[in-house]
Amino acid sequence: MKLERIRDGLKTDFMGREIHYFKRVTSTNDLAKELASKGVGEGAMVIAEEQTSGRGRQGRRWISSKGGIWFSVVLRPKISPREAYKLTFLTAVSVVKTIREMFRLDARIKWPNDILINYKKVCGILTEMNTSNNLIDFVVVGVGINANIDLTSFPEQLRGTVTSLREEVKREVICEEFLQFLLGLLEQYYNMFVMEGFCVILEEWKTLNCVLGGDIEVISLDETVQGRAVDIDRDGALIVRLGNGTIRRFVVGDVSLRKFEPFFDLDTSAR
Ligand code: BTN
Repeated sequence: MKLERIRDGLKTDFMGREIHYFKRVTSTNDLAKELASKGVGEGAMVIAEEQTSGRGRQGRRWISSKGGIWFSVVLRPKISPREAYKLTFLTAVSVVKTIREMFRLDARIKWPNDILINYKKVCGILTEMNTSNNLIDFVVVGVGINANIDLTSFPEQLRGTVTSLREEVKREVICEEFLQFLLGLLEQYYNMFVMEGFCVILEEWKTLNCVLGGDIEVISLDETVQGRAVDIDRDGALIVRLGNGTIRRFVVGDVSLRKFEPFFDLDTSAR
């Protein structure tokens, strides 16, 4: 990726206007947090060609070899820490819309913040924050997009569940263009959030997700449950109705979609 090429066509006012570009870092989130503590302004971005200790949710490793888009932006919204998930949601909407508009692909959001194409993960978002006196000091939103990544570079056990933009569009994607488009939408949705609140964004998130209304399995802290995803509440939690009618609420967890289950056995019903 070329720094000048990112800057050249960038049309934002503040998002990505201050760019800290590196060939290789531990994690762009770490550097962005460091810069944020030193006072960088809203929209400052750290981007790297490679991460040696890329992090995912729940302390997982995030494979970040050359060819991907690995970046973090610093935001300073005047909201309480319990609302920070809203930034993850608006980022997910921005990524999905970028993929849809640039490549006409049916990208979707899987709660809480995975972006899938054809049920395979193409992007993850990791939001981390610093607070003081129960107010957000800064939030770092880290976005990892498997852009021009060769699927054979993933460990074998992940291969059926991940994809890359190049794999889906069958050609090399221009990362600088993708980033410009995404930063534009990110700024637009962030401004919308600050000025109009979260409702419109949540409604849009709902139209772009692939979980609500479906039969799912949730693996949460110490349990696994199956049921129907019925809603997302005002705290971003997933509401699930279990088979016995009980309603459960999850704030963390991994969802798998039970898309391959037939509703009934056609052979027996025909007899
Ligand atoms: C997930 O799906 O678990 C979240 C993955 C987030 C990865 C991005 S890549 C840029 C930023 N730096 C990190 O170390 N993680 C995030």
